[in-house]
This record gives sequence, structure tokens and C-alpha cells, in this order.
Amino acid sequence: VHKGNGVTGLAEIGLQIVPDQYIQPLEERLDPSKVETDESIPIIDVSNWDDPEVAESICDAASKWGFFQIINHGVPLEVLEALKNAARTFFELPVEERKKYLKENSPSKVVCLSTSFNPQAEKVLEWKDYLTLLWVSENEASAFWPPACKDQAIEYMKKAELVIRRLLEVLLKRLNVKEIDKAKEYMLMGELRLSLNYYPRCPNPDLTAGVGCHSDISAITVLLQDETGGLYVRGTKEDSWIHVPPVEGALVINIGDVLQILSNDKYKSIEHRAFANRNKNRVSIPIFVNPGSDAIVGPLQEVLESGQKPIYKQVVFLDYFKHFFSKGHDGKKTMEFAK
Ligand code: SIN
Ligand code: FE2
Repeated sequence: VHKGNGVTGLAEIGLQIVPDQYIQPLEERLDPSKVETDESIPIIDVSNWDDPEVAESICDAASKWGFFQIINHGVPLEVLEALKNAARTFFELPVEERKKYLKENSPSKVVCLSTSFNPQAEKVLEWKDYLTLLWVSENEASAFWPPACKDQAIEYMKKAELVIRRLLEVLLKRLNVKEIDKAKEYMLMGELRLSLNYYPRCPNPDLTAGVGCHSDISAITVLLQDETGGLYVRGTKEDSWIHVPPVEGALVINIGDVLQILSNDKYKSIEHRAFANRNKNRVSIPIFVNPGSDAIVGPLQEVLESGQKPIYKQVVFLDYFKHFFSKGHDGKKTMEFAK
């Protein structure tokens, strides 16, 4: 096995059993008896963003579950399908082609191929490879994103940006923010990071984790997943998990740490994890809607005006980001950095 081939490279050589470095301790594996099947996260039809009931459903879901799916959001099904196919096309490229995008070879900071999460800091590696595509401008994307997926990814980002704005407007209005001006825009969506996640089929999915338990550090995350399934979010009972079923045309939305902090805990950044599949290569495609690196993140003035005590201090987003990426996945521990 050669360095840089990722788990995609491992799957390609047809392993019958996962290497020891990928075998998770019991608590990190999926225990089917802990999966709650009588609960599910809401599926919200957003065909009319101006409908107060739609806004209500979104904000309630953000407070109660921290996760929901949206349908009829305006990104055409063909755009979603084309992007998932393009992600597969990228990971099916010959390994020598893929390796051009490893950090040490990549021609630009707007594209980077990685494996696991933070291999230097992790005791056990995660069964996932991913291509990070930073959305700085269409010109840069067009110049540096891989030809195998760039047109589809650019088309998706242009359409998804509108959905992101709508979601943030709805969520912020409930926090008494009247308007998303330039400063707020920088604090909420100063950086959009698209990730093409690839979980190659895995001989022992029950022993491994695709992504270990974590909460996202973003303001919000917009996730497109394929039909395989495998994403689980914290449930309502002690140590229970709820599967997020693939729904055709839907986008999964979750609240990240930043919006939990800004909202002073009104909205919840919920832990989740994902598993590979024994028979299929799974694709999932999040957009991490992050603050700009210099943005200062703390409970919003508009929220504290009602007399609440701030639960968090102010942090520079880049410091928070670096802290998250300095360790392995560890549930919600990153949030302590803002306390
Ligand atoms: C993640 O939360 O990082 C990945 C989610 C998924 O693959 O469904
Ligand atoms: Fe996540």
C-alpha cells in the first residue's frame, strides 16, 4: 500500500479485511440496537420561503434537532445528480491522477485531496477520502478545480448559494437580526467549502467509522448524499442514534457550532457520524458555510438584548478552525474552546 492512495487505493486492491489502523474501539462503532427507528428528523418543503409556517418549521427543527432535510429548494435534480456522478468520476480516476491534488502536489489552496480526518493526530483512521474545494470565485474554481468534477461543482455552488442565503435569513430573523449586512455576511458565510466525500466500499463496515462522532464547526452545513445511506445523528434517548435516510432531491441541513454560539444555544449543533457500506462506494457532498477567517464569533448582540447571559466568549474563527483541525474527532469538545 502506497502513501497517498487513500482508502480508495485500499479498496481498489480488493482487501478482504480492513487493516488494524482502521479498527475502531467498540464505542465508535455502530451498535444497531442503539438506532432509534420510531423517530426521524423533519423533512421540510421550502417551495415557498416566504411562508411563515416554513420559517417556523425551519427554526423549530434547528432548535430541537439541529438537523433537517429540505425539498423543493430550487436546486434542480439534474444539478444534484450530475455533481454526485462527477464526484464518483473523480475518485475513479487512476490513482496517479488523483494524487496530483494531494496537499503536497496541489497547484492551489482551493483544492486538496485528503484521507481520514487528521491522520497525524488520530489513534484510529477513518474510512473516508475527500476532496476539498474552496469556493473563492468562479475564475479560481475554473482554473484549479479538477476537470473531472469542476463544471458540475461550479454549477452546484452557484445554485446552492441562493439556498444558503435563504436559510440564513430565516434562521437569523428568529434571532432578531433584521438584515444580513456585509459584516454579518462575512461572519456567517465568509467562506464556502465544498467537500466531495468518498467512502469506498468497506469489507468490515461494522468495525470501522467513515467519520467519527463530531459536530460541525460551520455556521450551517448543506449536505447532498447519495442513495446509499449511512449518516446517523444523536437521538432523543441516552446514547441513541437516528439514521438520516436518503431522500431523492433533498438537501440535509445541519446547524454547526458557530450558529449555536451566535444564537447563544437557541440553535443546536448536534453530533453525528457516518459509516461506509459493505457493497457500495458512498458519496456525500457537504458545503461548509463558515465565517471568514478573521470573523469574530460570539453570542449576537441582538440575542443578548433580551437579557440573556452570554454562554460563550468571543473567538476568532481561524483560531476555532485550527483548534478543530489539531485533533481527531471528539464529539462536541471543540465548543469548549469558546467557553
Ligand atoms: C460529515 O458529517 O462529516 C459527513 C456526513 C456524511 O457523510 O453523511
Ligand atoms: Fe459533519
